[in-house]
Amino acid sequence: TPKYSNILIKINEEAADFYHRVLLSTNAGKRGLDYAHQRGLTEEIIDHFRIGYAPKQNNLLLTYLRGHDYQDQDLIASGLFVQAQSGELFDRFRDRLMFTLTNEGDYAVGFSGRRLSNDKTEAKYMNSPETKVFEKSNVLFHFAEAKKAARTEGHLVLYEGYMDVIAAYQAGVKSGIASMGTSLTEQQVYMLKRITKNIIINYDGDDPGVHAEERATKLFEKAGGFNLGVVVLPEKLDPDEYVKKYGVEKYRDEIKGALTPTDFYLKRLAKKYNLSNDREKLLYLDEAVREIAQLSNPVEQDLYLEKIARQQRVSLDSLKVNLVKYRRQFN
Ligand code: UTP
Ligand code: MN
Ligand code: MN
Ligand code: MN
Ligand code: MN
Repeated sequence: TPKYSNILIKINEEAADFYHRVLLSTNAGKRGLDYAHQRGLTEEIIDHFRIGYAPKQNNLLLTYLRGHDYQDQDLIASGLFVQAQSGELFDRFRDRLMFTLTNEGDYAVGFSGRRLSNDKTEAKYMNSPETKVFEKSNVLFHFAEAKKAARTEGHLVLYEGYMDVIAAYQAGVKSGIASMGTSLTEQQVYMLKRITKNIIINYDGDDPGVHAEERATKLFEKAGGFNLGVVVLPEKLDPDEYVKKYGVEKYRDEIKGALTPTDFYLKRLAKKYNLSNDREKLLYLDEAVREIAQLSNPVEQDLYLEKIARQQRVSLDSLKVNLVKYRRQFN
């Protein structure tokens, strides 16, 4: 058995095993297992991702851990319990499908629980609070496993959510990680930088997702040294929904077709203007050239200038004149 340097990790590990067993082999877990099956999760996936179920009763985990001689002060510090006014402890997570969040060594440090119902008055995902072993800003879902896969796949693929990482895994993309929402942090960027410079960002295809991709791109560029690809899925789908609708083959094609950050930016920019109107077209071209002027590689500059010259039917030479003008401003 592994040795845990920290009692809080030990408690989270015990809880992960407990939730996993409840899901797979108890009557209380049947609700969770039905939900898991409904979401297309197989036994193999449930095992690989250590998915579990927190039962409806409000003290089963508490009773279990107390029975294994854990002290209340440590249980409180683990983040897995809430304390009533009376001082009494209760399980924090109830009637939720449990995603285990692990540290770089793949040891459990916290959880995110998804509600089974469609009841929008309850948070869709409930997370462990910050503890001595769980700081949300430097945890990435599936990181410990994905960094191994990155060696063979040659990249890491960044998602918003747990179910997206899992759908990608089922599609053969095993280097998926999730920022657990749209607010990627600088710490997470530096965690990725140690593994590979090749990052593909595949957030949800809805407006918040695409907006967050733009923000993420800027964070990576600020850190520097990355080779980025950006995937924008159609019909506002998230990767999980896309795989279910179009299948794994098509999904892999979307990954292969990832845009460069500049293409991604130019496409977004073009949507902001009515390009059949000359005045707006000029504004678009101006902003586009300004962006291209910031690229450090002259071959890249040429590539994109030619592309927009062709698309907008203007001469490459005139665009180049403006490019030179903007380059002087930046240098
Ligand atoms: P989404 O709202 O896109 O959820 O949030 P999802 O991943 O598609 O979830 P399903 O498919 O409905 O189950 C993306 C991610 O943001 C975090 C979670 O990590 C989620 O996977 N999130 C979302 C929260 O932490 N809390 C929330 O209430 C919602
Ligand atoms: Mn198992
Ligand atoms: Mn989303
Ligand atoms: Mn989503
Ligand atoms: Mn989803």
